[in-house]
Amino acid sequence: MNKQWILSKFPVGEIKEGDLVYQESEIPELNEGEILIKNIYLSLDPANRGWMSGQKSYVDAMNIGDIMRGGTIGVVEETNNNDFKKGDIVNAMGGWQQFCVSNGKGVRKIPLDTGFPLDSFMSIFGMTGMTAYFGLLDITKPQEGETLVVSAAAGAVGSIVSQIGKIKGCRVIGIAGSQEKCDWLVNDLGIDGSINYKTDNLRGKLKELCPKGIDIYFENVGGPITDAVLSRMNIGSRISLCGLISAYNAESIAPGPAWGNLLVKRINLKGFIVFDYIKRYLEAYQDLSNWVRDGKIKYKNDIVPGLENASHAIKKLFSGENNGKLIVQIADL
Ligand SMILES: NC(=O)c1ccc[n+]([C@@H]2O[C@H](COP(=O)([O-])OP(=O)(O)OC[C@H]3O[C@@H](n4cnc5c(N)ncnc54)[C@H](OP(=O)(O)O)[C@@H]3O)[C@@H](O)[C@H]2O)c1
Repeated sequence: MNKQWILSKFPVGEIKEGDLVYQESEIPELNEGEILIKNIYLSLDPANRGWMSGQKSYVDAMNIGDIMRGGTIGVVEETNNNDFKKGDIVNAMGGWQQFCVSNGKGVRKIPLDTGFPLDSFMSIFGMTGMTAYFGLLDITKPQEGETLVVSAAAGAVGSIVSQIGKIKGCRVIGIAGSQEKCDWLVNDLGIDGSINYKTDNLRGKLKELCPKGIDIYFENVGGPITDAVLSRMNIGSRISLCGLISAYNAESIAPGPAWGNLLVKRINLKGFIVFDYIKRYLEAYQDLSNWVRDGKIKYKNDIVPGLENASHAIKKLFSGENNGKLIVQIADL
């Protein structure tokens, strides 16, 4: 039998009890070309909330009754597909469930001989690391001495962006939602300054910590934080528009930031989706793995045991309780 989370209602506002239901179904027999994957890790991401909205975005909309969509790492248990053998460790969109059946499309093998723990391929070497690497380096092309501001800086993506910014010689200022996160950014990750957007005077602190203005903004949040950052951006500065988490639970459209700043200051803003870079993941992995080995990058994973806890755990992303990349451990390898 296969335990699964099913989308039962399109959430309004925050995800609530009953929007997802936990149920059991039989594991189907494999057809020709299919594989059975036992899911080990499930990635919980802010994007999950958008996927539940019933709206098409860069991926098809989910329908009521669908297994909740999610990225996974798992092990091939049975195979009718010559490209995969039993025991292969694979990355897939395996969903919020114990087992998934796939025709192999979009399923990528994870090498076992890297010396890194498997959960690192859900975070630093997975979508999180790829997002940080390409979102910063490809979109904004940071130069030595420039000032980089990162929102949700203590989060999974933001903390890697902040550290890559330091590696590239930038002055890095991180914005986060608690003193503990702010201290971690400065004291452990070695960035130049941090701002607690819940307690500090954001505009005043940006002025103090970015005396030469802001050259690069790595946008994870949107809303009033963006507005404050835009007001200090330099002419010809760049923004990597990675995410807008402050709006994901919104029930109506909030008054936007002053986008006129984008025009007046000729700011170059480019949205992106990490999957655009799939063909270049190896390039990122080579740099990221060297930086982790050399101690230049630290990463944290927040692993929640038990698939049954997934719908509760995802709320941590929106309350800020997650401490690193939020992952559900569905089973032992
Ligand atoms: N473009 C892409 O391909 C792509 C790929 C992956 C992720 N992303 C985006 O990257 C961003 C970070 O994702 P992640 O997976 O690394 O999650 P994360 O940063 O580990 O977790 C989300 C964090 O967002 C902060 N947050 C939540 N609500 C907020 C609000 N209203 N205002 C300000 N901050 C808020 C919280 O930290 P605080 O305690 O600091 O508030 C929370 O810990 C998200 O916007 C996500 O959509 C984009």
